[in-house]
Amino acid sequence: MNKEAITEVIRRRTSCRSYEKTPMSPEIRAQLADFCGAQTHGPLGAQPHFLLISATEENRAALKGLGTYGFIKNPTAFILGAVKRGPNALEDFGYLLETIVLRATALGLGTCWLGGSFTRSSFAHALALREEELLPAVIATGLPAENPRLVDRLIRGGAGSDRRLPWEQLFFNSDFSTPLTTTEAGAYTEALELLRLGPSASNRQPWRVLKTAGAWHFFVHHNPNYRKQMKLVTAIDLQRVDIGIAMSHFALTATALGLRGVWQTQPFPAPPDPDTEYIISWVEQT
Ligand SMILES: Cc1cc2nc3c(=O)[nH]c(=O)nc-3n(C[C@H](O)[C@H](O)[C@H](O)COP(=O)(O)O)c2cc1C
Repeated sequence: MNKEAITEVIRRRTSCRSYEKTPMSPEIRAQLADFCGAQTHGPLGAQPHFLLISATEENRAALKGLGTYGFIKNPTAFILGAVKRGPNALEDFGYLLETIVLRATALGLGTCWLGGSFTRSSFAHALALREEELLPAVIATGLPAENPRLVDRLIRGGAGSDRRLPWEQLFFNSDFSTPLTTTEAGAYTEALELLRLGPSASNRQPWRVLKTAGAWHFFVHHNPNYRKQMKLVTAIDLQRVDIGIAMSHFALTATALGLRGVWQTQPFPAPPDPDTEYIISWVEQT
């Protein structure tokens, strides 16, 4: 995808919770299924795998008992993914699955991330989930309904979906007490802005990015209560998935703008509190 396409696609994506009953065309389905099959290596070394399946009465109904929120009407397909437990597995899972979400968006489909406890569900069965693997989230997809329900707007309002934290709470320069200005962000302004538009579980936006000379350090800011709540429901830290999603928006935009970089562990400035944890850095390459 060229720059216009990816930035436009990232801006256009929002969570879709009502779908047309008509399934996607076989051509679109084949393109999306191929793309899912090609996402095999995350940038941090994990090797998740993804599968597009048709929605059935059984798996639609199963969603209700799995700890996801917001009833999804008439999804015609689901994108499932699994990753072997391990360091950075959840970030890589989020990164690659969001790349798939953006491809689905580019193909004209609606999408909604769903985080829940899928391990023993019919979804796990469809994916032949192994003992050592996690199924952290699934994507509901299909043709977006022409007339979304009132309840869709209520869910968006309830989750504060149209609100994003301001720059000064997300992006920092040299240390966590100095917010980053757009002037200082320079060529990376758009990459950060499109990171900020990313989806996150309950719209918590746990991403924090700190700039030093030639590097962008990514941190997760855990909300302690939310972590407890989520662990009860899913036993999976969905905020790490959120970081992977943010990394994908940042890297895809940077790459489209011709800004080169690699993901590497680097020495990093001290986080501001024990709930903020370093994940990885984007190191600029000239
Ligand atoms: C990991 C993850 C899990 C999510 N789980 C759910 C869910 O269970 N139910 C739901 O309706 N939305 C879910 N969402 C969607 C978020 O609520 C949504 O991304 C956020 O409110 C921002 O809105 P937007 O995606 O329309 O920009 C999830 C998003 C992520 C990234």
